[in-house]
Order: sequence, then C-alpha cells, then structure tokens
Amino acid sequence: MQKTVSRRPADWINALIDWMDERVAIRQIVAYAMHVSIPRSAHTFYLGGITLFFFIVQAITGILLALYYHPTPEAAYDSILFIMNDVNFGWLVRSAHAWGANLMIVFCVLHLLRVVVQGAYRAPREMTWLVGIGLLLLTLGFGFTGYLLPWDERAFWATTVGTQIAGSVPLIGNYIQDFLRGGPDLSALTLSRFFDVHVLILPLSLAGALGIHLLFIHQQGLADPEERDE
Ligand code: HEM
Repeated sequence: MQKTVSRRPADWINALIDWMDERVAIRQIVAYAMHVSIPRSAHTFYLGGITLFFFIVQAITGILLALYYHPTPEAAYDSILFIMNDVNFGWLVRSAHAWGANLMIVFCVLHLLRVVVQGAYRAPREMTWLVGIGLLLLTLGFGFTGYLLPWDERAFWATTVGTQIAGSVPLIGNYIQDFLRGGPDLSALTLSRFFDVHVLILPLSLAGALGIHLLFIHQQGLADPEERDE
C-alpha cells in the first residue's frame, strides 16, 4: 500500500527556498544583506533609517495619488479636489504624502548633522558622504517639483520665483530657466515636465543612489565615533 506523506506549509516554503537557492544563491544574498558591522559606541539614532522609511511612505502614497492626478493645467487642480473630497481616504493619502515630504527632508538633514557631529564622513567613508549629498539634492528636488503639481496660485508663483532664482545663475541662467519651464513662461509644458521628473526621473535616481549608499555602508560598517586617528 502506498503511504501518503502530508507536508506542512513550512515544508513547502523551505522546498521553494531550496529550489530558488539552487538557482540564484538566495540564502547567501540574504545572509550578506542581514549582516552589517555596528560598533557598540555608534549612535545613529536611526536617522538614516527613518529617512528611508519616509521615502517608502512617499513611494506608496505617491503611486496612489498618481491613480487620480492629471498633469494638465485644465485638470490638475480639479483632480486634487477630487482626491480630497471624493476618493475614499484620498484626503488621508494626500496629507500623508505632504507631511511625509516635509518629514523626509527634516530627517535627511538631521541624519546629515549626526554624520557631521560624529565625524562619520571621514576616510574611508567620503564616497558614502558624497552619495549622501546627492540623496539630499534629489530629496529637495522632489519638494521643488512636487510643489507645482496642485497648479494653484501658490504653486504657480512659488515655481515662478524658484525658476527665476535658477535664472539668476551667471551666463547660463537663462538657459536653465527656459529648460526648467519648457519656454519663457510657466505653461502646460512646465507642468508635464515637473510631473515626469517628480514621478519618474527622481524616484529612479534616488532609488539607484540609495542602493549605492546602502551598499557602501554595508561594506564598510558604521563608523566608530570612539576610534581616533593617532
Ligand atoms: C534619502 C536620504 C538618505 C537615506 C535614506 C540615508 C540612509 C542611511 C542609512 C540607513 C544609514 C545607516 C545608519 C544610519 O541610520 O545613520 C546611513 C549612513 C550614512 N549616511 Fe545616509 N542616508 C541619506 C542621506 C544622507 C546624507 C544627506 C548624507 C550626508 C551628506 C549621508 C551620509 C551618510 C554617511 C557618511 C553614513 C555612514 C555613517 C556611519 O558610518 O556612521 N546620508 N544613511
């Protein structure tokens, strides 16, 4: 008589992991990702991790907002009103996105200050620091491009002034201003340009730079503030 062997869900999961492991060494990848050297005296206050958390919040709430937002001058403001008044929990998602944007910048700056105060930018972590500067600029870029998207009076004039400031750069200022606006004035082209940068170029760039930032941190471990150069 043939004996049937009953398998528990955990056995199925283990069998699946074994199958994957034979093909892409998944256990080795997870073991590498889970191990980072943290000296006893390194107090990071989790500020980089909190910044990362807000980036994830922004990605999720941003994708939800994009389901209803229209990046055209005729429809942008109305689509924001629709999100706030008619979409279920739309007001909550939009508020979380707006607050998350501010908090991400605040925690990014606090994280930078922590790195400065503990001298964690010093050799061999200069590259982590430089990529970090890139991350800060990209985070500010999110704020700048996102501010225009509601296409209300405040957004319009804030971006007019913001692009004017870029226009005051010596020699190439006018080119930068026209490039940002898509012409001499703010128009439909400016809105679609800012939208593309906000939902595509910046998220991909930030995700890529973040991967490099975390890889460096992983390879070097966190700095030990008690370690002094002789
Ligand atoms: C989107 C923005 C950023 C994210 C998500 C992020 C994430 C992280 C995380 C998770 C860590 C590990 C430990 C910790 O929490 O401190 C870290 C470490 C580090 N970050 Fe960032 N970071 C960002 C921006 C920056 C900026 C603006 C700088 C500086 C210009 C910077 C420089 C560093 C350095 C030097 C370390 C290594 C610190 C050490 O070894 O003690 N990061 N970052």
